[in-house]
Amino acid sequence: MSHPYLREVLDSFSLDVSEMRAIAARFCDTLERGLAGEACCLKMLPSYIGLPTGRESGVFMTIDMGGSNLRCTKFRLHDGRAEKLSETKHKLVDPQGAYNLISADADADKLFDFIADAVASQLEPGEELPLGNTFSFPCRQEGINEAYLVYWTKEIATRGVEGQNINKLLEAALRRRNVPVHPVAVLNDTVGTLLVALYQYPQADVGSIMGTGQNTCYLEYHHPITGGPMIVNIESGNYDVALPFTAYDRETDRRSNQPGVQLFEKMVAGRYIGDLVRRVLLDLCEHGALFAANPGPARAVLHGDFTALMVERVILEVAYAVELFSCSEADALAAAEAARAVLRRNARLIVSTYLGILFHQEEGEGQEIHREHVIAIDGTIFEKMPGVSAQMEEALWEVLGDAASLIQFRLVKDGSGLGAAIAAAVATHQS
Ligand code: GLC
Repeated sequence: MSHPYLREVLDSFSLDVSEMRAIAARFCDTLERGLAGEACCLKMLPSYIGLPTGRESGVFMTIDMGGSNLRCTKFRLHDGRAEKLSETKHKLVDPQGAYNLISADADADKLFDFIADAVASQLEPGEELPLGNTFSFPCRQEGINEAYLVYWTKEIATRGVEGQNINKLLEAALRRRNVPVHPVAVLNDTVGTLLVALYQYPQADVGSIMGTGQNTCYLEYHHPITGGPMIVNIESGNYDVALPFTAYDRETDRRSNQPGVQLFEKMVAGRYIGDLVRRVLLDLCEHGALFAANPGPARAVLHGDFTALMVERVILEVAYAVELFSCSEADALAAAEAARAVLRRNARLIVSTYLGILFHQEEGEGQEIHREHVIAIDGTIFEKMPGVSAQMEEALWEVLGDAASLIQFRLVKDGSGLGAAIAAAVATHQS
C-alpha cells in the first residue's frame, strides 16, 4: 500500500478527458484572439514563411542557437534533397569557466562576435554565402529577415539583445570580423521543424519542440496579413489561461530568472522538468511518504541540481535510483512512479494544446477532426523521455476516439539546421 500523501500528490498531476477538452477549447479560443490582434499570452508571431515548394536549391550557411549551444552547419539543397557539407558545435558556456555568453555578464557584441567566428570557421577560401538563422526565442517578426527579440526565455540573460533586430546584430558582427556571409532569413526552431516536415509529409501543418523549451507553430491557412498560408509561431510556452498549476509549478516559477512568464513551458519543458520532479520528491520525503527509513541522503540529493537526464534514469533504472537516494527498491519504484506522473501530465497538457490548434485549423463547429494532420515534433522530451510519446497517443485517443487515427505525431529531427537552409532558400527566391 502506498502512502496516502503519495496518492494525493500523484492525483494532483492527473488530467482527465474533460479537463483536456476544456484546455483545448480555451487554447483554441486564446489562439484565435491572438491571431485577431488582441493582446494575450499567445504572441502568434508571423514567420513570413509560407509553404516551401520542395524544390529549393543552393548552398546555405545556417546557425542554430537554441539555448546553451550554438551549431553552425553548411547545407546544399538540390531537387528536394539536402546534403550536410560541414558542421561545428560550440558551447556558449565554457565548461572550464573561461567564458559564459548567456549570462548577464555577457553583452550582444560578445555573443555575436563569437557566432561570427563560428560561421567563419565553416567557409572555404573565396566562398560567399547566404545564411539562415534559427533563433529559438520569441521574436516579433516584421519580415523573413527582420525579427526583434521580445524577451529571452530558457533562463538566458545576455545584455543588449532584447528588443534588437537579431539579424542586424549578426550582420554587424560578420562585418566586424570580415566574414562574407549574409543573413537572409531568421526563424524559430518550431518553424524549421515544420518546414523540414513538409518535405516528407504533405499533410504536416503543426511543428513543435519538446526539448529544453516548449513551443509550437502551425500553418495558418488564411493569415490576416497575407490572406494566404503562413506559418505562425504561437510561443505556446507562454500560455497561462486557467492551467492546473500545482504548488510545485508555482515554486519553480518563483525561483526562475523571469517569474510570471512562460508558465506553460515551466510546467512541461526539459529545462524545468528536473526541478519540478525534484520538488515533488523532496516534498514527499518531507511528508514521510518517500525515503522514510533513511531520509538524510535523499534529502541531500534533492537539495542539489536535478536534471532531466536524472529524471529519465530514475524512471528507467531502479538500481540507479536505489544508489542515488540510498533507498530501498520499493522507495526507488515509488520515486519513479512520481516522476512518471509528472511526465504523464506533460504529455496530456501538450496534446491538449495541439488539439486546440487542430480545432482552429478545422474551422468547424465544436471539437471535431475531419482531415489528416501530421504534427512534426523534435526534442528529447518527445524522443527520449520514457513513456511520453505513448502517453501522448493515449491522450489523443481518449479525447478523439476513432478520429485520432487522422492525426500522426512524427519525430522530425534537425528542423533548426535544415529548416534554416530551406528558409534561406525561400528568402533568396522571394527577394
Ligand atoms: C522557448 C522559446 C521558443 C522556442 C522554444 C523551443 O519556448 O521561447 O521560441 O521555440 O523555447 O526551443
